[in-house]
Amino acid sequence: MENRKVTVLNNLEELSRAAAAKFVELAQSGIAAKGSFTVALAGGSTPKKLYELLADENESFRAEVDWRKINFFWGDERCVAPDSDESNYRMANESLLKPLNISPSNIHRFKSESDAETAARDYERFLRFFFNEPNDGVPRFDLILLGMGADGHTASLFPNTDVLRETEKLVAAPFVEKFGTHRLTLTPNVINNASNVIFQVAGADKADALREVLDGEIQPETFPSQIVNLSSGKVYWFLDEAAAQHLSSNHKV
Ligand code: 6PG
Repeated sequence: MENRKVTVLNNLEELSRAAAAKFVELAQSGIAAKGSFTVALAGGSTPKKLYELLADENESFRAEVDWRKINFFWGDERCVAPDSDESNYRMANESLLKPLNISPSNIHRFKSESDAETAARDYERFLRFFFNEPNDGVPRFDLILLGMGADGHTASLFPNTDVLRETEKLVAAPFVEKFGTHRLTLTPNVINNASNVIFQVAGADKADALREVLDGEIQPETFPSQIVNLSSGKVYWFLDEAAAQHLSSNHKV
């Protein structure tokens, strides 16, 4: 697949550094080209190190980006309050946005404290306004950050859920059996319309699913990360050796 680049690093630290360098490269070129940059942040635990590196005053990344030109969104969110330990917004706000002093007007979180469907419709309405896609157009993010679960899910696109087949909505509020709760997520159309996607996947527990996603037969209902196949963008996979251990051809840097 020519629109996909897989890079394997020794560990999470090196993986995060490689992803940070790619983030800076994409942000610099986006801002140079159009004076702005839109990114949907990933949740979970893997991206925390990336966020810390980008915001760290003792690292080179922070000084290389005009952060004022970036608008921050989320690819998915749990249906919890923004100050919950479970909140993807809280994790990114504490590790990236607050340390960078990002203006609140550039931070666009899900209103995850509302009921799920209301929060999804509200976020979709805002996306249509912000990206000036009032009718049935699909917003085009400059970059969407994603992780992958041990079951092959990404964002909140979980195996065998209806949202995998969603073709109209930009944002959905699927009920996720395994958690007994709703989640909030960008739909496949929005993710696949992005200019760039960065996946960060680390840990041996992801190795089996990753082999299926990257080297197995195409079965996105079972391994939803396979849905990510950009129409005209590039997908960058940053993996650690543990997660990549079953891949057919090692792309170690
Ligand atoms: C979430 C994420 C989810 C995450 C994967 C990997 O809300 O949890 O959006 O898709 O990226 O579950 O999570 P870890 O990085 O914690 O392994």
